Formats: sequence, structure tokens, C-alpha cells
Amino acid sequence: MREPALDLVIAALEKIREKSDHTPRASRTALARLQAADLARISVATISDLVDHESTSGSQLQAARNKTELLAAVDERVRACSKCAHLACSRTQTVFGVGNPNADLMFIGEAPGADEDQQGEPFVGRAGQLLTRILKAMNFGREDVYIANILKCRPDMPAGSFGNRPPTPTEMQTCRPYLLEQIQIIQPSVLVALGAVAVEGLLGTRRTMRELRGRWHTYNSIPLMITYHPAYLLRNQAPSEKRKVWEDMLQVMERLERPISERQRNYFL
Ligand code: URA
Repeated sequence: MREPALDLVIAALEKIREKSDHTPRASRTALARLQAADLARISVATISDLVDHESTSGSQLQAARNKTELLAAVDERVRACSKCAHLACSRTQTVFGVGNPNADLMFIGEAPGADEDQQGEPFVGRAGQLLTRILKAMNFGREDVYIANILKCRPDMPAGSFGNRPPTPTEMQTCRPYLLEQIQIIQPSVLVALGAVAVEGLLGTRRTMRELRGRWHTYNSIPLMITYHPAYLLRNQAPSEKRKVWEDMLQVMERLERPISERQRNYFL
């Protein structure tokens, strides 16, 4: 069933087309946002028939539509997953991933915390809000990139205790295949792993951030940048640490051939 809001959008587009010489235009981002909405999947076909895509070719749109459908199929399996019986019992819901299925840039965190478990979306708590601010400084919105975690369930906590715990190596090994499927479908140009636990989950190796961050690695032939987890920056507010993360993000922007202003170059100096 189509969402009523989308019916209104389609009606408005049809009116513009009837009343003007030009077909309405939509940016790639606007179409990607529609694509990201689960219920919008069928309707995007209708909308793409109505608009003149400024920067989205038919094949790009088709690719994004296919990726959305492929991701939805993996999400369905994740929702039903009970491989870690203890986590399947304790979770409010699984937390699959969020953003543009056609993203060039994909961020990988460790696991949902309490806020993510409640809201069903990765990186929405304090660390997530900082990640969103970092993205904004890079001139990205959350809807432009893709954000996922190694674990799709919140690591359980003993009854009555607060906070979050890191995932265990076994939990990460069990859940990693879902993330691999996400990466294979999205095929980002650049991956960013946030923190040593995410690196361990992805590469299966435990090394210090001092050894790992700030330089390019590869994961299945995809360039991989490793940087500090935003939660580390919340614990350690020294400008020097913020600058390190920012320098890593400047390298990511360069790799993606994004324009970098003088102001952006000079942050946290
Ligand atoms: N930390 C993570 O690694 N992932 C989240 O989704 C939230 C906090």
C-alpha cells in the first residue's frame, strides 16, 4: 500500500507537469530519500516516471532500487535471527542499518546501545549525534551515507544494570556475515571503521588504534579508513583528538574527490 504522503507528492508532481512547460526536477538525494523509505519502494517507480532527473540516470535509479530490495531481504532475515539466543531474548528490536543504499561512503560501528535498541536505528544516542555532526562538517547528511554496526542486536546487560557493554568476539563472528552482505550490496567506494572493536569485528584482528588509525587499509578491495569511535571523543574532549578524527575524515573526503574548503581544512587547529 502506498503512503498517503507519497500520494500527495505524486499529485503535486502531476500538477507541475500539467501546468508548466518543464517536467519537475528531483535531485539524486531526494530520490534516494524516497528510496530509503520502506513503503516508498513501489511508488519510486511512479515518481521517477514523472520527474526529469537532474543528476540521477535511469540505471543509477534502478541500481538503488535493486539495492534497497536486496537490503530489505537481508533485514528480514536479521529481524528473525536467533543465532545468539541470549541477544534475541534481550533485544527490543534488531538494528539493521540506515542511509543511502547507493552510498559511496559507509560507516561501521560496533553494536547498538540502549538508545539504538529503543529506536531501531544505529548511532542515534550521544555518540551518534556526534557522528551526525562530523558528517555535517564533511557536508554529508545521514541520508547520503550508509551507517551500520557489526552487531545487529544490543549486547545484553545484567538485569538492573545501566550502560552498554562491548560485543564479544563470538557475538561479532556470528553476526559479521550480515554486515558482509550489506557491504556487498551497497558496494561503497570507501569504508570507515569506528574504533578498535569495529575493526576487530570486521578484520578479526585486535590491534591498538594508535597502530591502525589515520592510514588506508583495504577490506575486500574497498579502501578502509580506521578512526576513533565518536564515544572516544566524548570521553576525551582534547582538541588534538578531535583533530586526529578530522584528519582521517579529510583523507576520506579526498579519496571521494569531495571539495574541501580552507575552513574545513583548518578545523580543530
Ligand atoms: N555505538 C556504536 O558503535 N553503534 C551504535 O549504533 C551506537 C553507538
